[in-house]
Amino acid sequence: MARFKTLDDLPPDLAGKRVLVRVDLNVPMQDGAVRDDTRLRAAVPTIAELSDRGAIVLLLSHFGRPDGRRRPDMSTALLVRPLSEIIGRPVRFVEDCQGPDAERAVTTMTEGSIAILENTRFHVGEERNDPALAEAMAALGDIYVNDAFSSAHRAHASTEGVAHRLPSFAGRAMQAELEALEKALGNPDRPVAAVVGGAKVSTKLAVLGHLVAKVDHLIIGGGMANTFLAARGIGVGKSLCEHELAREANAIFERGEESGCTIHLPYDVVVAKEFAANPAGVRAVNVHDVAADEMILDVGPAAVEAFADVLKTCRTLVWNGPLGAFETPPFDAATVALAKTAAALTMEGSLVSVAGGGDTVAALNHASVAGDFSFVSTAGGAFLEWMEGRTLPGVAVLERREASANKRLHQEV
Ligand code: 3PG
Ligand code: MG
Repeated sequence: MARFKTLDDLPPDLAGKRVLVRVDLNVPMQDGAVRDDTRLRAAVPTIAELSDRGAIVLLLSHFGRPDGRRRPDMSTALLVRPLSEIIGRPVRFVEDCQGPDAERAVTTMTEGSIAILENTRFHVGEERNDPALAEAMAALGDIYVNDAFSSAHRAHASTEGVAHRLPSFAGRAMQAELEALEKALGNPDRPVAAVVGGAKVSTKLAVLGHLVAKVDHLIIGGGMANTFLAARGIGVGKSLCEHELAREANAIFERGEESGCTIHLPYDVVVAKEFAANPAGVRAVNVHDVAADEMILDVGPAAVEAFADVLKTCRTLVWNGPLGAFETPPFDAATVALAKTAAALTMEGSLVSVAGGGDTVAALNHASVAGDFSFVSTAGGAFLEWMEGRTLPGVAVLERREASANKRLHQEV
């Protein structure tokens, strides 16, 4: 049995029930328009299902970082039309996420109707997880659904506090995330490979430290590979490199040896004297042949093939971070090639592939393979914290409340 309740645990008919749904509508904006609507689309299945089941759907979300102040450019009112267009139903706006005005507005809503409440972070109590704010939000609803995995690493009033006060359930997107993550690292088919890239080791030390004890193969690329190469005494020229982390890098090698995890570093790399698109003098070299005035900008073709061979022996893959400076050609080659291999293995049915975090989605989209992975998380920070093995407060509260939520549900719903 799942460790958390889902919409399947609610009565089929929710006619007139007020359901507070925590979604993550924190989408990037450009000139007043939504630049990437992935998160809006991710919220649709839960919203549509609850509406179809007759619920009054009240959407709670933060939007940007307004620090407890009302800011017109961070009003969730800006998202009413984009969401309404995507879902193909009317969506109304409620000018606060708590308090008498919001309560009044909610009483005028009918079965199946949908509203976005104003940005939760317009209240200072949101990020402080203020009990009074959580209580006031909970007063608007009969049921709480959290569908915002990407905000679940925050113990805020709308992601954590309110869940203590209402019968609480995971929405469909949250459910899909948790099931995919469980398959990838909780109880995976082995062997398991992790690909970790990105610029800096310092931001991902905890991720590497956790993974090295859990996976069979740890493939390290991106700028962070340079730190590991340097720790092994290899000259990395002018490359991005955190020399001061040599000791931490060596500790990860040691942990890998103890736990039987093979750590894969590139043995050839793509270097250039300047970081620009298609610069003169770009070349692939053995890692031992990087000149003092060159910088490593991508994993080399031989190493990519070796990494691909590792993936072919694995049943499960977790991927976070690009292997090179993928936004600048030709330094996208390794990321694209390995992503295509992972996608092909997934389509063949031999690999479960889960990817997420910041640049990763952009890199997989660039390789045109995001749709071929088993699961691509829309989360940034939350995905990383999950990869660190940390408990996410917004998820933990759904797990812990199972027994008591059940009791209250039978009394109240
Ligand atoms: C995100 O975009 O990472 C989530 O929406 C969480 O936002 P935050 O980093 O401002 O808490
Ligand atoms: Mg963030």
